[in-house]
Amino acid sequence: MSRFFDLVSKPARDMGTTNVPGATPAALERRSQLIKLDSNENPFGPSPRAIDAMRSALAAAGSYPDDDCSSLRLKLATHHGLPPEQVLVTAGSTALLSLLCQTLLAPGLNAVTSERSFIVYSMAAQAAGAHLIEAPMRDDSFDLEAILAAIDSNTRIIFLANPNNPTGTVLEAAVVERFVAQVPGHVVVVLDEAYYEFAQHFATLRAVSYSKSLDYVRQGASVVVLRTFSKAHGLAGLRVGYGLGPAELLGYCARMRNTFSVSSVAQAAALAALDDRNHIQRVVENNTIQSRDLSQGLSALGYRVVPTSANFLFCDLGEEATAVADRLQDEGVAVRPLGPWGAPHCIRVTIGTPEQNQTFLSAMRRLGSPVERVRSRA
Ligand SMILES: Cc1ncc(COP(=O)(O)O)c(C=O)c1O
Repeated sequence: MSRFFDLVSKPARDMGTTNVPGATPAALERRSQLIKLDSNENPFGPSPRAIDAMRSALAAAGSYPDDDCSSLRLKLATHHGLPPEQVLVTAGSTALLSLLCQTLLAPGLNAVTSERSFIVYSMAAQAAGAHLIEAPMRDDSFDLEAILAAIDSNTRIIFLANPNNPTGTVLEAAVVERFVAQVPGHVVVVLDEAYYEFAQHFATLRAVSYSKSLDYVRQGASVVVLRTFSKAHGLAGLRVGYGLGPAELLGYCARMRNTFSVSSVAQAAALAALDDRNHIQRVVENNTIQSRDLSQGLSALGYRVVPTSANFLFCDLGEEATAVADRLQDEGVAVRPLGPWGAPHCIRVTIGTPEQNQTFLSAMRRLGSPVERVRSRA
C-alpha cells in the first residue's frame, strides 16, 4: 500500500478519488475554446456593475478580506427580511454544504437525499465520515415519501435540491411545506435553491408557487436555505454563496469555516450583483425562452427532454451518452453525460445564449439520430 494510506483519516481513505490528472496545456487550450454547456454556468457572465466593483476592489487586494462578510451579510439580511445572524456567507454554497456536514454529521450518522441529485451531497457527507442515503426517485422527480421513509434515528440532514440538479425538476411550495412539517425534530432540512432566480421566473410564467422557504426560516424551523451567486448572478468563478437559517446552527457552522475564505473581490462583486436587477432579468428571460427552443429542438430530433425549472435540460438520448458527449466535444460543444448519476443514456445540457444553443443543436443534427448512428455503424 502507499506511503500515506495508514496515516490519513478514514474518510480520506474511503472517499472515491476525485483526482484527475492535470490537463496538458494543449487540452486546456482546446477546452478554453469549447462552448461550455456542461456546468450550468451563466452564458452572459457577471453583471457589468459586478465587473466594475471587482476592478475597484483589486487595489485593496493586499489586505485580508472582512472575515465576517459584514456588508454583504447585512445587505442579504435586508434583501431577505431576516436578521444578519440568520445569514452566513461562504465560498460558494458548496462550502456551506461541507460546513453543515462537518457540523452536524460524524461517523455513524447519516444524511438523506434522493438518488440522481447534486453530487456534492455525497462528497460532503463522506468527508465528514458519515453516510449519504439516496432514496429512489419516482419518474424524474423526488419521491418525498421514500425520502421520509429513509430517515432513521441517526439522520441529521436532508438535502433537497429545488430545482434538482441534474433533472431540473421542481417541487412546488405547498409540497415542500407538507414535507418539512413531517420531518422529525432531530433532522435539519437543507433546501438547496441554487437555481432560485430561474425557478422563480418559470413559476411566475406558469402561475404556480415555487418557494416559501424563507417563511420556514422566519418561523424558526430546522431549515437552512442555500442560495448562490454562481448561477443567475454569473459569479461562479469567484466562489460566493450563502445560507439562511437558524442563527444558532449557522453560528456553529461559522466556527468551522476557514478563515478569510470569501475573498474581498468576491464580496465586492456580490454586493454589486445584488443591485443589478436588469442583469438578472436579462439572464432569466433568455433562459426561459431558450429552454423552450432547446427542448423543442431536441424533441424534434427524437430525444426525451424533462421539463425544466433551472438553467439546464435533462435529456434522454436513448443510447450511451458518453460517446455522444465525446463527439459533441469534437464539434466544439461540452455537455455533461450522466453515467455517474446512474443515467448512462442521458446528458445534462446548460441553456446558453441563442447562438450557443443553435450551435449545439446543429452539432446534434450532424451527429444524426440514434437510429441513424446505429445504421451507420452497421
Ligand atoms: C444544486 C446545486 N447546489 C449548489 C451548487 C453549487 O453552487 P456554488 O457554486 O455556490 O458552490 C450547484 C452547482 O452546480 C448545484 O447544482
